[in-house]
Amino acid sequence: MQQTFLWKSLIATSLIVAVSLFVVVVSYSEKPYFLLQPVFGQTFSSHWMFSKQPYKAFKPHLGYVSIPKQEPLKLHCELCSIVSSSGQMLGQAAGPQIDRSPCIWRMNNAPTRGFERDVGQQTTLRVVSHTSVPLLLQKPQYFFGQGNDTVYVVWGPLRNMRKDGKGIVYNMLRQAAENYPHARIYVTTEDRMNYCDMVFKKETGKDRIQSGSYLSTGWFTLILAMDMCKEIHIYGMINDTYCKTEGYRRVPYHYYEAGSRDECAEYLLHESAPYGGHRFITEKSVFAKWAKSHAIKFFNPSWQLS
Ligand SMILES: *[C@@H]1O[C@H](CO)[C@@H](O)[C@H](O)[C@H]1NC(C)=O
Ligand SMILES: *[C@@H]1O[C@H](CO)[C@@H](O)[C@H](O)[C@H]1NC(C)=O
Repeated sequence: MQQTFLWKSLIATSLIVAVSLFVVVVSYSEKPYFLLQPVFGQTFSSHWMFSKQPYKAFKPHLGYVSIPKQEPLKLHCELCSIVSSSGQMLGQAAGPQIDRSPCIWRMNNAPTRGFERDVGQQTTLRVVSHTSVPLLLQKPQYFFGQGNDTVYVVWGPLRNMRKDGKGIVYNMLRQAAENYPHARIYVTTEDRMNYCDMVFKKETGKDRIQSGSYLSTGWFTLILAMDMCKEIHIYGMINDTYCKTEGYRRVPYHYYEAGSRDECAEYLLHESAPYGGHRFITEKSVFAKWAKSHAIKFFNPSWQLS
């Protein structure tokens, strides 16, 4: 009895010694690496210091693949400023503040030229609806030309995005990638599209297809941003009760379409459309909920989130 006990403690002790030795050896062999740190300079140390999950954050995202190589999207940003296409952007002079952000995201073909003071001029990434792809292709040199390193992330239903030669929008993008080999074009995978639908159902209790609606580009943008950005600043997005607020600001639906139907009229039409509408208002209430668990802030107009 005593002997087995002795044996056990001997084994335990040698195990502890072995583990400690291992730890010492490992940390010793890591020493030269740490000593090299100053040589690597800022990039290394800033990730080291500020990013909570440096490795996870840089993991390639399998929900978005490049054209034509089918490589997953690799992206991470400490702060993404998302510029909405709403007329709320007009007259707020938010451009300089937006341009100071390390990553600037826009949607569809929303222009910067002529609106720099209000929307800024830098663009890191654009989330683009399949229906807006023809608009980009009207100015291919401007959007995809050499020297333009904007990342394009296109979303769309399988019927338009299928890769077997029958996806009309996918074919357009493949052609663009051929004409502009430096263009950084990604498409949302079918799995990721289904995931975005599933999130809508989980958050609203409504089946997107059965309720006859389409998700908006804003929806796809926020889902992507929550995976890619540590902090998110959203400009020019109204909240879910804005259009019921007395004396709200009447602005065009898009800042670059002066004289079009006003934003709230457009939102109300969509919200109640029995078929083919975007549920912009419902989506906004979900965004408010997400802002409680993610670092999301809303500017111009700002949202009071409790
Ligand atoms: C790239 O295209 C964007 C349009 O999204 C434009 O604002 C920008 O000036 C272009 N950048 C370069 C370097 O050509
Ligand atoms: C929503 O927007 C309206 C108008 O700007 C504002 O009065 C209200 O406080 C906002 N609600 C929240 C929850 O942010």
